[in-house]
Amino acid sequence: MKEKLQKIREQAMKQIQSAESLNTLNDVRVAILGKKGELTSVLKGMKDVAPEDRPKVGQLVNETREEIERVLEQAKKKMEALVREEKLKAEVIDVTLPAKKNQAGHRHPNTIALEEVERIFIGMGYEVVEGPEIEYDLYNFEKLNIPDGHPAKDEQDTFYINKEIVLRTQTSPCQARVMEQGKLPIRMIAPGRVFRSDEVDATHSPSFHQVEGLVVDKNITFADLKGTLEEFAKELFGPDTKTKFRPHHFPFTEPSAEVDVSCFKCGGKGCRFCKGSGWIEILGCGMVHPHVLEMCGIDPEQYTGFAFGMGLERIALLKYEIDDMRLLYENDIRFLGQF
Ligand code: DAH
Repeated sequence: MKEKLQKIREQAMKQIQSAESLNTLNDVRVAILGKKGELTSVLKGMKDVAPEDRPKVGQLVNETREEIERVLEQAKKKMEALVREEKLKAEVIDVTLPAKKNQAGHRHPNTIALEEVERIFIGMGYEVVEGPEIEYDLYNFEKLNIPDGHPAKDEQDTFYINKEIVLRTQTSPCQARVMEQGKLPIRMIAPGRVFRSDEVDATHSPSFHQVEGLVVDKNITFADLKGTLEEFAKELFGPDTKTKFRPHHFPFTEPSAEVDVSCFKCGGKGCRFCKGSGWIEILGCGMVHPHVLEMCGIDPEQYTGFAFGMGLERIALLKYEIDDMRLLYENDIRFLGQF
């Protein structure tokens, strides 16, 4: 019996020493001390030992077990420390490495242009308002002096939701909405997205942005309109910018004009940028038609006003000398990162 125990002990020590993982250590424990382990089976064989020898043998078995347990525990602790060390080594952080660069977001050229336009008009005492992108035909056309059957309605390739509701083709309906509120005087700009059933090309998109402007007060004249837009152009394109008002027609203004600015690239001499003319068209404007004032509840005998509307993309393209509008919508970071 003694020899048997000795053998078990020696074998256990050897196995524990050569064990290379916690799992193997556990296997050793089960094989020797487990329910069906070698030492356990020795204990079970105690019944065959002569009664007078039992205490002695029992003590021997216990001693053997205790020793194996102690050595196992030691080996386990050593192994755990080793594992922990390996893990720490693997997870080590080199604080001297250069940090990963965080790619910060960037304002879109459209946004930059809009903020510039807003800054200029806010500086002149204008309020910034917004209107719905899904608009009643009534506001998009009717109240702007474009009744059913008016040829101007055909010019705008409209997305109709139904007969009464459209995706707004212009920001001009904001004029009617603000005037109807009846708070006078009015000095506002209304930026926003507009929609037209246009094919995409270098200068067209079915969805683009406009900025509308409206001033209504007593004694507003065309001189106010001219002065305001001249100042605006100078602020936006530089102090040497000249403006030209060309007669035009819009149903909701009378008289109406289109405004050209002297080419900021060549100063008006004519270049590729202004297609040789020295001038670049930037917006439409005019004195608010008395009938429009009336339809929106304002007495045209007492009040007059002017309005203007410009394409935001056009401003952005001009300011940054971009020659294809599609670049503004593709969201290619290599392009957008340049502004
Ligand atoms: N809404 C016009 C368009 O989309 C632009 C415009 C012209 C707006 C004259 C105005 C204006 O307010 O007075 O072409």
